[in-house]
Amino acid sequence: MTTSSSERGVSLGMPELPAPAYPDDVRARLEADAREVIARYPDSRSALLPLLHLVQSEEGHVTRTGMRFCADMLGLTTAEVTAVATFYTMYRRKPSGDYQVGVCTNTLCAVMGGDAIFETLQEHLGVGNGETTDDGKVTLEHIECNAACDYAPVVMVNWEFFDNQTPASAKHLVDDLRAGRPVQPTRGARLCTFKETARILAGFPDERPGAVEEGGSAGPASLVGLRLARGEAAPARVVHPRGGPHEESQDRVHEPSPAEHLSSHDAPQDTSASDPAHPAGPAAEEGE
Ligand code: FES
Repeated sequence: MTTSSSERGVSLGMPELPAPAYPDDVRARLEADAREVIARYPDSRSALLPLLHLVQSEEGHVTRTGMRFCADMLGLTTAEVTAVATFYTMYRRKPSGDYQVGVCTNTLCAVMGGDAIFETLQEHLGVGNGETTDDGKVTLEHIECNAACDYAPVVMVNWEFFDNQTPASAKHLVDDLRAGRPVQPTRGARLCTFKETARILAGFPDERPGAVEEGGSAGPASLVGLRLARGEAAPARVVHPRGGPHEESQDRVHEPSPAEHLSSHDAPQDTSASDPAHPAGPAAEEGE
């Protein structure tokens, strides 16, 4: 008698998880998609990350059924799949909303207003970290640095950038998402739902007309170093005093108009204490 890979996972001491099977039609569709993904890699196990996105696109999060499916398709144990699915934060482990609103509360965004934005959205939406609004539209999350620090504080919706946010603009953003009003990221294609995003991340084409052409890129503030390396003129450096004469910079050039702002770094905002209920987030209180 042969054993399935998921059963081999149990034999390694992992608890057996009752993972209900996909309906036959869903399973057949996912298997066809999975075979297409697996064929792109010389070693099938390299397809695990896109397959996890694929099953996430089916149910909105990575279920035990999805992990068992990945294990079966790749000849892995469920323990191996679970280890990967629980390591990466892009894989959700519980049902989530159509729009994952991630507020960057890593160091730079936090001090530039990310903490204040997160606190405001918690209160405005009535949900905590990782929780979803009653209408199933928005899941609020702390997120780590998304390499857009030059546009801090940054909010991501389904991994699209919303740069230079404020508490007020973030409230407006989530209100639009919940009301179904069109929302355009600062950079990149127009938004789609979390499930649709997961399918694109699994490696399937974005079928929306014009969406690929809308794809974003690094903004001007991120490209200043490249311009300098090419011998192009550096833009005026903008440095605002932040608290006293000792912080007046000799590099300061002039008071810029809003149109001259390379990013919000020259527009510091008040910050608030980090979310004490989220131990993985920034924990330091003022004075610590
Ligand atoms: S700290 Fe927020 S994008 Fe880098």
